Amino acid sequence: MRSSKARRFGAWSSLRLSRIMAVLQYILGIFVIFVSLASLHRFYSAGVFLPANDSCEKFHTVKDGYADFDIMALSDRVDEVLNQLLNLQDKLEFTVRNMGKSTQPHFPAGKPISSSDLKLFLEEDVIQPLYSAYVALRLIRIPKPEEGADHLVNIREDPLINHFTVEEIRKYITQKGNRGGNLNIYGTNKTFNTIGHACVLMRKELEEYMNYDVGSYCKDDWNLAQTLMLGGCDPLPRRRCLARASKFYQRPLPINESLWQLPDDRNVRWSNYQCRDFKCLSSKNHKRGFSICTGCFEMEKEKMKWVKDTSLVEFLISDVLALKPGEIRIGLDVSTGTGSFAARMREWNVTIISTVLNIGAPFSEIISLRGLVPLYFSMNQRLPFFDNTLDLIHTNVFLAGWIDLLLLDFILFDWDRILRPGGLLWVDKFFCSRKDLDDYVYMFLQFRYRKHKWVVSFKSKDEVYLSALLEKPPRSL
Ligand SMILES: *[C@@H]1O[C@H](CO)[C@@H](O)[C@H](O)[C@H]1NC(C)=O
Ligand SMILES: *[C@@H]1O[C@H](CO)[C@@H](O)[C@H](O)[C@H]1NC(C)=O
Ligand SMILES: *[C@@H]1O[C@H](CO)[C@@H](O)[C@H](O)[C@H]1NC(C)=O
Ligand SMILES: *[C@@H]1O[C@H](CO)[C@@H](O)[C@H](O)[C@H]1NC(C)=O
Repeated sequence: MRSSKARRFGAWSSLRLSRIMAVLQYILGIFVIFVSLASLHRFYSAGVFLPANDSCEKFHTVKDGYADFDIMALSDRVDEVLNQLLNLQDKLEFTVRNMGKSTQPHFPAGKPISSSDLKLFLEEDVIQPLYSAYVALRLIRIPKPEEGADHLVNIREDPLINHFTVEEIRKYITQKGNRGGNLNIYGTNKTFNTIGHACVLMRKELEEYMNYDVGSYCKDDWNLAQTLMLGGCDPLPRRRCLARASKFYQRPLPINESLWQLPDDRNVRWSNYQCRDFKCLSSKNHKRGFSICTGCFEMEKEKMKWVKDTSLVEFLISDVLALKPGEIRIGLDVSTGTGSFAARMREWNVTIISTVLNIGAPFSEIISLRGLVPLYFSMNQRLPFFDNTLDLIHTNVFLAGWIDLLLLDFILFDWDRILRPGGLLWVDKFFCSRKDLDDYVYMFLQFRYRKHKWVVSFKSKDEVYLSALLEKPPRSL
């Protein structure tokens, strides 16, 4: 039972509301027109729509690729803002049209509209979208044409900046000039922080990754980071938050004990793995959460590798090093595993860096807890070593018949680059199907390395193993 007074109040307040809505719509309409005009104007002042002119032609080429300024990204962002505004306008229209009908969720019929309902509606459904549209528009960074003669040619903008809205990414990828504009030790006056270009394809994930409070603890999201890296967002941006560590971290074992022992379980954060301790990672456990190197967490098995004569395709470290006594001191191991190759080589006084990713198990953690160097690295990148620097590259299990030939070609040329003349490439049990063997053999032989060892043997009926020990020849050019 409602009094007529209350009913009259309800009618009056919905009248007032529809007037507010109408005014809002007008404002919004004007705003949309203004945004369109403003973006046109900004394009215009950036020189996009200048009448035909020589220098103008130069500018138009920008559209075709990764030149100084990314117009595609800019126009995407303007479209995004226009869409946000149109959605808002639709919503307001819908609200006005249905005001007082029972289909209206916010202001249903027969109910007086309280000012707190109105306030909530304006705040959540009008002001917030309007504000986010405003922010998105403000974030668009248009290069300022430099003063001077050929100002249209000198337009530069940080690449990719218009793709991202999270402030922390934008800050990261903006180039930073040295204080005072002086040259630094590298002889440059600014520093670039780079990210992998495929970050653009994973914008949502990257923005989630970079959304944190500066100086606080990071989320426990290393697996999001790894997903980004494997998706080509590699290198990732740095972050200004504190990485989490294991709560009960224990002093690691001394090096004379750590090389061949499983570390303390408390030194690993297990929350993102299927297992909760090292024992669980045993090959006997089918739910261990990884399959890339069964048995590699069993140290008794690992101790047998490269020291006991078991099959023709498994070379012994003593034989390999005997080819170049005293010459092999530093090297890289591109394998999947727990660092046992590096551990063995350490006993021979050879320093090996092991590339690693944490695919389903704490591989980086165990390698470092054994006292070895884990290089957290995906195959997306050029290796961070200079030309002609390493004595040895060893690869085991990692390279196999799954790998695309063109990718393998780029990888092998990179390895060739970093291997020194006289350095050794040890291909350890590469396996592929029999019919692909010729293709891969060509890949390995194209560099005309000296063949110290070359063994092909059957893995199964259709698959073969190839092991090879090759020496890079001198290049006196
Ligand atoms: C094109 O612009 C240049 C300077 O930016 C000017 O010198 C030239 O006269 C212009 N040409 C035409 C056809 O407007
Ligand atoms: C860096 O040097 C270039 C010329 O080499 C100059 O144009 C630029 O303004 C300098 N940047 C800073 C931040 O000083
Ligand atoms: C390892 O070295 C430390 C001293 O550096 C020594 O106290 C310890 O007994 C050694 N452990 C083994 C197993 O030899
Ligand atoms: C490694 O170096 C140590 C100390 O220089 C030496 O005592 C040892 O014999 C070396 N081991 C091998 C296998 O060369």
